[in-house]
Amino acid sequence: MSETTARMDDTGSGESPRVPQVTVEVHVQPGDARRALHTEVLAGLCGEATPKELSPKWLYDERGSQLFDEITRLPEYYPTRREREILQSYADDIARASGADTLLELGSGSSEKTRLLLDALGHTGRLRRFIPFDVSEAFLRQAAEAVALEYPGLAVHAVVGDFERHLGKLPGGGRRLVAFLGGTIGNLKPAQRARFLSEVSAGLAPGDGLLLGTDLLKDRKRLFDAYNDSAGVTAAFNRNVLHILNRELGADFVPEAFQHLAPFDEENGWVEMRLVSSRPQEVHLAALERRIHFAEGEVLRTEVSCKFRPEQVEAELSAAGLHLRERWTDAAGDFALSLALKR
Ligand code: SAH
Ligand code: AVI
Repeated sequence: MSETTARMDDTGSGESPRVPQVTVEVHVQPGDARRALHTEVLAGLCGEATPKELSPKWLYDERGSQLFDEITRLPEYYPTRREREILQSYADDIARASGADTLLELGSGSSEKTRLLLDALGHTGRLRRFIPFDVSEAFLRQAAEAVALEYPGLAVHAVVGDFERHLGKLPGGGRRLVAFLGGTIGNLKPAQRARFLSEVSAGLAPGDGLLLGTDLLKDRKRLFDAYNDSAGVTAAFNRNVLHILNRELGADFVPEAFQHLAPFDEENGWVEMRLVSSRPQEVHLAALERRIHFAEGEVLRTEVSCKFRPEQVEAELSAAGLHLRERWTDAAGDFALSLALKR
């Protein structure tokens, strides 16, 4: 389903207001999302799963997207700053190497750092289209409109979709660069990641590229602090999923009765975001006619965030049929951006 949105933007300057032209394609209708949530909650929270678990995509309602944006500005949360530093230094090289006229961004969020890529692609004189793709519809619409206002002449086509289900719907045509920034690939476990990369690869034409942001393994204290910040913003982001379950499932979670904890799991090489029940408690899920019991100390896992070695990223790309063209890191070696091309 495709539609065109246009919102009047009053500049207050007396000039005629700019009207951003954004086309929007929606693959996740609210009813589908609710059904998918029901299925996941039945399997991950009401079944035998140990630990209880939910996919991180449920963290991002409008409030969750805003809280993530706040996280990106925290002193302890280095990945966004490091990735921005790489783009500030190398976006022109990336743009030239990609030769792209279309930038597709998966899990686009605010597309804040993406402007560095849009500027660099603009310098090559080829840029025509920007396609942000995200599951969080309201936030995506606002972000797409903001980009359209800032880049007159750029065709902005927003796609509301789940990158684990709707990659086959990505618009084709032109020379495409798919950007997957922020380290969001780390929120997929290894098997999901392999499937995701081979689906991205299958959708690319020879010469198209994938620009992949990955957070790198580092000092454990820095990893811990990045996900257990002193201002409690990550805790609020994590607990927000309980507010979402209350709203979407008529549940009666008491968010304050769960502690946020995000330790590094050495065996799996990921930071694991948990909500830990601070007492024995029963939660009623009215929409599913179920009750869930949490023992004191019982864990609900809401996200994993894998940390990588650069060679591992190259091997995973290669296994998906994507050839590493170049890799850039920030000066401290905290984060990597890899450009891989489809042969
Ligand atoms: N790329 C941005 C935002 C990262 S936050 C940055 O680098 O700062 C992760 C983003 O991925 C959120 O906007 C979230 O809504 C989106 N997301 C998470 N799971 C998704 C899924 N399965 N399909 C599509 N988007 C998803
Ligand atoms: C979106 N993603 C890459 C973030 C991360 O670092 O894994 C989400 C996040 N979770 C807690 N803080 C940030």
